[in-house]
Amino acid sequence: TAREPVLIFLFGATGDLARRKLYSALYRLYTRDQEFAVIGLARRTHTDETYRDLINDSLPSEVGQRKHFLERFYYRRLDITRPESFASLSTFCEELDARYHLHGNRIFYLSLAPCFFAEAAKQLKKSGLAETKGWKRLVIEKPFGHNKESSKELNDSLLHAFNENEIYRIDHYLGKEMVQNIEVLRFANPIFEAIWNRRYISNVQITLSETLGVGDRANYYDQTGALLDMVQNHIMQLLTLVAMEPPVRLETNDVRYEKVKVLKAVRPMNIHNVTEQIVRGQYSRGIDANRERLRGYLDENNIRSDSETETFVAAQFMIDNYRWQGVPFYIRTGKRMSEKATQIVIQFKKLPKNPYFHNVNHVGPNLLVIYISPDEGLSLKLNVKETGETGNTIPISMKFRNNALAMENMQDAYERLIADCIKGDSTNFTRWDEVAYSWEIVDSIVDSWKKRHVPVDYYEAGSMGPVSADELLEKNGHHWWPLM
Ligand code: BG6
Repeated sequence: TAREPVLIFLFGATGDLARRKLYSALYRLYTRDQEFAVIGLARRTHTDETYRDLINDSLPSEVGQRKHFLERFYYRRLDITRPESFASLSTFCEELDARYHLHGNRIFYLSLAPCFFAEAAKQLKKSGLAETKGWKRLVIEKPFGHNKESSKELNDSLLHAFNENEIYRIDHYLGKEMVQNIEVLRFANPIFEAIWNRRYISNVQITLSETLGVGDRANYYDQTGALLDMVQNHIMQLLTLVAMEPPVRLETNDVRYEKVKVLKAVRPMNIHNVTEQIVRGQYSRGIDANRERLRGYLDENNIRSDSETETFVAAQFMIDNYRWQGVPFYIRTGKRMSEKATQIVIQFKKLPKNPYFHNVNHVGPNLLVIYISPDEGLSLKLNVKETGETGNTIPISMKFRNNALAMENMQDAYERLIADCIKGDSTNFTRWDEVAYSWEIVDSIVDSWKKRHVPVDYYEAGSMGPVSADELLEKNGHHWWPLM
């Protein structure tokens, strides 16, 4: 589908996300002939010139042709709570529409503190900005509520101004190359689809590990924690992509329908299984790979010294459907771990009978590894004959891996997602019912943690998490495969 010209209202234009991700994504779209103009909106005072300087500073240094790109950006000061702020934009946006031939197409991108999402949508409706002769779309960043109830309230307020099919809820993991490749890997390769089930798969392991600590996001993070920050959205999305049934067609709603079915089948936690199936961790003092000392979470700036917020979660999810009965989906994510990596390991079942018992090497299981970041690729671990006459088997890995350098020239997640939004393709955004079911799972965990007063297990900063995260798998005779 062609990408049409568009006027983008960027709320939170001076914020962290805009500077880290959005301007460079827009720059790359610009170099690929996307027609657009942007009205940057925030509370601070800026002129168009100082705003353009800020954008300029946030672009990578090697970027050329900046002048024409920057000229499409305009700044207006905006106070979300004041209707006059919105009203004053209407003549200006008509002007930009005409100047850049944007056909009245509008994207309202809310890169704001979540407490302003509902108000922004309300004011967009009231001011008439959301009434346009072209199409209109609302892009909304996470977190989408803090439990099912609040997310429903937020959703209801968005629905006063936009239809569900105009709402693009961002989960930036869905914009990652290898996340989008999971579907192709599964559904374009019959050899995998044939064995993608409980008969052949022993367990699935999803790791999203980070080396950074809480950084300067203490206010947000201490109230949120790893479960809400990473599991409710990114991890649940990866899990559904691995577990879903083949969609009838690769159309937006067919794909999302299959994803929702997985979320519906995830077994909720309760006070009986929550301590057996989930680990809450928090980092304490430690050292990093360069032997530099790392502070513990409780010593970080602006963190309460008695904070019980988890910075790590490991869990065993069970999916109660025909395909996955009895197959554990292990997930883990945390701050201040030893490596920054996102990877999924599919571990296949053992040999039904081992004819290689005389082997000096242990015959390991077949593993399919999906590397999502920092490298992108796949590997398949197989056993082959050792060269010579020993009669032994040895493991080999068949790999397809893009190195980080090659990837820099490729699209990044935000660029892909903004391009999809301009095309009107919401497949890689989360539909309301996905959000709601995912909250149901997470609410069941929060609830059970509260009722059982589950404390955090400490892990050293720079490690792969608390010992209890290893024990979680050992109980089933499994272990975490090291990041590969
Ligand atoms: C965000 C979380 O959604 O994802 C952050 O709020 C986290 O806490 C980030 O650091 C990780 O994203 P990525 O793309 O760097 O793996």
